[in-house]
Amino acid sequence: MPEYKLVISGNRELMGETHVSGGKNTSLAVVPAALLAESPCQLDNLPDIADMRVLVRILRHLGAKIDWKPDQKVMLADASSLTDTTVPFALSQRMRASYYFMGALLGRYGYARVGYPGGCDLGSRPIDQHLKGFRALGADIREEGGMIVLEGKLKGANVNFDMVTVGGTINVMLAAARAEGDTLMTNCAREPHIVDTANFLNRIGAHIRGAGTDTIRIRGVSRLGGAAYAVIPDQIETGTLMIAAAATRGDVTIRGCIPTHMEALTAKLLEMGVMVTSEDDVIGVKIKQGHRSIRLSTQEYPGFPTDLQQPMSALLTRAVGTSEVIENIFESRFKHLDEMRKMGAKAVINGRVAHIEGVPELHGAPVYAPDLRGGAALVIAGLMAQGTTEIYNPENIARGYEHLESKLNALGAQIRREPCQPEYNGDAVRV
Ligand code: EPU
Repeated sequence: MPEYKLVISGNRELMGETHVSGGKNTSLAVVPAALLAESPCQLDNLPDIADMRVLVRILRHLGAKIDWKPDQKVMLADASSLTDTTVPFALSQRMRASYYFMGALLGRYGYARVGYPGGCDLGSRPIDQHLKGFRALGADIREEGGMIVLEGKLKGANVNFDMVTVGGTINVMLAAARAEGDTLMTNCAREPHIVDTANFLNRIGAHIRGAGTDTIRIRGVSRLGGAAYAVIPDQIETGTLMIAAAATRGDVTIRGCIPTHMEALTAKLLEMGVMVTSEDDVIGVKIKQGHRSIRLSTQEYPGFPTDLQQPMSALLTRAVGTSEVIENIFESRFKHLDEMRKMGAKAVINGRVAHIEGVPELHGAPVYAPDLRGGAALVIAGLMAQGTTEIYNPENIARGYEHLESKLNALGAQIRREPCQPEYNGDAVRV
């Protein structure tokens, strides 16, 4: 694909209806989980995002037969006979979710050789808790030539996480699903995609109870079969669209979402004076006047998601008053605010705390998408701004949002792709 930049003509209200795609972070767990199945699986509602293409490359490298039709959102994944148990660094470093191949391959074969994962640069992102869980299950773990080698016949065990980790919870669940005996996982993360991954595993024959609470109990089974499964809608895309609607003072109906997953965001938007309604799988967002500043603190689910902190802080750049945003999950997730200063935003960052003083107006400027959600935040800033915003390095956005520009354009935004010299885009960083 040729290099491009996004060019946004700002200051237009978003109006109309849109539909949420399948969840990114749930798909990035459920697809590797299909490696545990010895019969083909049909996975539905997968989003057409760049990270999925990397996943497919990894699966094919391992010998799985993958028939993915992104336009029909469906994938047939046949991992009945894999030919390799190594995920090379060249592929693993392209995305964060490559860490799930450790749990899936270890659970299936008792052996995995996986390069270190990549991911958005949000500060230090260790995987010590994943490895601690695998060790508790009986895996021997060593590093060989920069690769992590995990080996051992797994037996159920007690795993208590030292901190709440989404990836760690899912990864240990994958490894334990086919371990011999019972596993008790405590201090688990409770995100919706943990429940979704557990539901998929149970559909193919696993025995997992308690996902969505901080205690997960797994009775290991010797074999997992195939099944059809549709992943849940994307919580973070839903939130990004809700924030974009509020930011442009629009009136948008978002269909195909799960409103209960959005309670933390909805509460904050209501506090700001945004009108949010919900019914069944539909959320409506509209705003008539200016919105108020708030205090916001990111937490594990069901708290306010770190992945929406960045889009939300774009909205806060135009709130009345000064907002305080505390980022509790990642040590460095405010790079988008540095970019927004070029657009007239007023933000003071002090470690994990940002103070954002609302301004009456943002103006367009050339900016650089520092990471996935930071890129989405810049799109929202561009929609609000007077004049034209150019977003460089937009590949970061395409990694995790399905057709974001066309969805926003269908609501009245004016976003176009223009060719751009590769040297202006730099290296895309990974989610
Ligand atoms: N942590 C450790 N040790 C570990 C694991 C995590 O110290 O072994 C720390 C992390 O450094 C971080 C905190 O614990 O400070 C939480 O990390 P977590 O493991 O929950 O996050 P993750 O698995 O690396 C996933 C999503 C992120 C999302 C976070 C939090 C995927 C592929 N990534 O990352 O998604 O922000 O959970 O919800 O599912 C995104 O979509 O933009 C994105 C970054």
